[in-house]
Amino acid sequence: MMMMMMRLLLVGLTALAVLVGDRVLANHVGTYRVVCYFTNWSQYRPSPATFQPENIDPSLCTHIVFAFAVLNKRLQLIPHEWNDPDLYKRTFHTLNRTMNRPKLLLAVGGYKHGPVLLSKMAGNVYKRSQFINQTVPYLRRYNFDGIELDWEFPGEINRGGRAVDKKNFPLMLEELRRAFDAESAVTKRPRLLLTAAVAASSDLIDGGYDVKAIGSIVDYVTLMSYDYFGAWNNVAGHNAPLYEGYNQTAKYNVKWSVRKWLHE
Ligand SMILES: *[C@@H]1O[C@H](CO)[C@@H](O)[C@H](O)[C@H]1NC(C)=O
Ligand SMILES: *[C@@H]1O[C@H](CO)[C@@H](O)[C@H](O)[C@H]1NC(C)=O
Ligand SMILES: *[C@@H]1O[C@H](CO)[C@@H](O)[C@H](O)[C@H]1NC(C)=O
Ligand SMILES: *[C@@H]1O[C@H](CO)[C@@H](O)[C@H](O)[C@H]1NC(C)=O
Repeated sequence: MMMMMMRLLLVGLTALAVLVGDRVLANHVGTYRVVCYFTNWSQYRPSPATFQPENIDPSLCTHIVFAFAVLNKRLQLIPHEWNDPDLYKRTFHTLNRTMNRPKLLLAVGGYKHGPVLLSKMAGNVYKRSQFINQTVPYLRRYNFDGIELDWEFPGEINRGGRAVDKKNFPLMLEELRRAFDAESAVTKRPRLLLTAAVAASSDLIDGGYDVKAIGSIVDYVTLMSYDYFGAWNNVAGHNAPLYEGYNQTAKYNVKWSVRKWLHE
């Protein structure tokens, strides 16, 4: 539906609205984040539009999210493109050239990946544990500073999501967070960051996200504040309107979504 075309519309690096989890808010009021995305398909654009890790300007962003890794049928985290591990390394090297390098996060999921496999993983205590045990060394191996859960979307029944996702998503996040805390305590390395890219539309939020619970676990969330209107509508509208437009539903704008996530 509304989010249909979204990932395809992203350019090589795209900033999204960033909201800070309660836990972080208490300590870091005013922390400024510019979260940028490096997409696995931008390398395939014909020249001169191709976008490679070496094209990233690290001075523009505080966080770079590598999109996307996926789950395989055994619900394990795997790279998607044949050359992702090489791209991870080249991205890290590009960032590492700067003094104050941006944090590098790996995003798992994406719109095309859909909700089914993440729903299965989050819904089974053994599979969650397996995923978590595998994810920590995977992130460390490639120098990632954290992970972004890009589950599109929990509770999205018409694409294979389930109502129980709403309960299972925070459960999985909580267990991931505990594993990150434990790893950091043992290795003395800075704790891996835990974030989520979340939906902007009221139906998806109400059906799939326990906003309070998620906010108390993650470091911040990125709000997918785009695709409010697109080719799938039979009326014209801005793709990412900040405010309510003339004769348009009050819920389809960035202001509404941000309020929903901040005040739910
Ligand atoms: C990039 O990753 C997504 C996983 O969400 C995948 O569906 C897509 O096919 C990948 N590659 C390209 C070239 O789009
Ligand atoms: C990244 O840079 C730091 C110094 O800023 C250096 O110690 C480290 O070895 C570098 N890592 C890689 C993989 O290049
Ligand atoms: C994951 O690791 C923990 C701690 O080492 C262990 O207790 C648990 O059994 C592991 N889970 C799986 C599914 O292997
Ligand atoms: C307002 O939108 C509805 C459809 O959502 C349409 O039927 C109606 O004509 C519109 N009104 C105006 C004044 O544009």
